[in-house]
Formats: sequence, structure tokens, C-alpha cells
Amino acid sequence: MRISRTLFALLLCLVFAVPAHAAEKPPRFAIVLASFGSTDAKAQATQEAFVKAAQARYPDIPVYVGLTARLVQKKLKEQGKPATSIFRALADVADEGFTHVAVQSLQVIPGEEFEGVQQVAKAQEGLPKGLKRVSVGGPLIASNEDAASLASALLAALPKERKAEDTVIFVGHGSPHGVGGMIYPSLQWHVHQKDKNAFVGTVEGTPSLEETMAALPLVVKGKPAPKVWLVPLLAMAGEHARNDLFGDEPDSWKNIITKSGRECKALRIGLLDIPAVRNIWFAHLDEALAAVGAAPAKAKQ
Ligand code: CO
Repeated sequence: MRISRTLFALLLCLVFAVPAHAAEKPPRFAIVLASFGSTDAKAQATQEAFVKAAQARYPDIPVYVGLTARLVQKKLKEQGKPATSIFRALADVADEGFTHVAVQSLQVIPGEEFEGVQQVAKAQEGLPKGLKRVSVGGPLIASNEDAASLASALLAALPKERKAEDTVIFVGHGSPHGVGGMIYPSLQWHVHQKDKNAFVGTVEGTPSLEETMAALPLVVKGKPAPKVWLVPLLAMAGEHARNDLFGDEPDSWKNIITKSGRECKALRIGLLDIPAVRNIWFAHLDEALAAVGAAPAKAKQ
């Protein structure tokens, strides 16, 4: 009797002791949005609005932001604004006890920035007391299907004042290295299928400013100046939009278009501002969440 009681006590100890060490704790999910970041107030508002929309879409999973651009982080710190790198953001969520994280790239194409996000995410997975699983949702244009959806979303986002005969140019960043840069000519094709007067250009890749200008319908002398709607194809309409597209320098897109005898109409919005474009990003985030085992979002779109 004595022995059995001791045995029972021992067993009881084992029953309570074992789970604390061996049993899997339930996963704790978090979302980390990987953004280039911006020092521009309008661009920051765009990013904040997107974070809010993401949090509304996934009410049960906290949403964090990690930045990829070093220079932006430096400038934000000088302004006393939050400037957490993507690496640190992932370390922070691990320290807070999250175990399964979906990183969503807010990049437009799978270029240099996106590759960096993938590497950082991989490095943070499986560290002792760190994140158990990390998955990365693809950039905005991660497939041919995305390019087709984006073309429709972009054209639908144009203001009512834009007439069918007006030219539209969507200007992205461009990527001179790697296959990511091929996405812009591909998007051009998709846009052109739906609207013969819509074009895609880039600041630092193909099609260039010169190549885009050469593709536009000719200006006919004696006729009113044709209108050209200039629209950023950038996650946020930050520095590149302000300087390269709409800047006062003689070589800005706005000034080159105006000098060519056309009337330039500026539409200063970011891709993250457009609800139909957000949904393409959210579809990628859904996939990233599913990859770490989170239940599908009770999406209210
Ligand atoms: Co740049």
C-alpha cells in the first residue's frame, strides 16, 4: 500500500512534469509586413493605412512592420520615428513569444529587396527559442496571373476625368539586374491588352523614360495637346514619385512629357492605396499564413 502510494505520487509527478518540457505549445501567429519604408509623410500615411487594412482583415493576428531600406531607417531614427528593420522586427516577435510568422513583402516585383526579405526570413527560422516557422508572401507581381489582375486594377483606379483617348503611363522603379526587371515589359503587355493608350515605364530599368516616350502616340501640330496621366507604379508615392516623376528638375517625367507638347496630369497615389491592388497582396498573405498553418482569414473585403 505504501509503495503503491509512492508510485502513484511518482506517476503523478511524471504526468505533470512531462508536458512542460516535451509537449508542443499551441502556435502563436503574427504577421510582419516587409516594407522599403519612406521618409515622405504621404507615403507613410499610405503604409499606415495598409497596416490598418491588414489588421482589419486578420483581426486575430497582430500585424507588425519591418523596414528593408537602411537609409530610410537612418533618416526615420533621426526624426524620432519608428524604424525597425525587418531582421529586428522578426527577432522582436520571437521575443514576444510568437512562433509562426507570415512575412508579407510589400515589394512590387521579386527583385533585390524581395530576395533580401527571403534571406532574412530564412535566417530567423528555427533558431533556439526563436521562430519555429516563417513563410514569405510573394511581392505584388509574383505570377503572370498577378500581372493580369494588376493591369485591370490599375485601369479601374483611374479617375473619371481620364478620357479613353488620353494616354496613361504607369511608372515603376525598374530592376536593371536579374529576372525581376522582365516583369515591367510583361505588365505592359497585359495593360495594353485592356487599353491601347496605357503604357508602363520605369525609373531605373526597361522600358526607360526614352523608350516609353518613343512608344506614345505622336503629337499632331495644330491639334490640342494630348493629355498624359502619369501614375506611380510604386508601393508608396514617396521620393521617386516626388523627384523622378513629378519633380521640378528638367529631366523629370512630368517635364519631359510637358516639353514634348503633351499635357501632364499627375495622379500621386501609391499602389498600397488602391483597394483592388491591396487584395492581390492580401491573397499572397493568405498563402503565407496557410503555409505556417494559420486558419484562413474571415475575410471581409
Ligand atoms: Co531607387
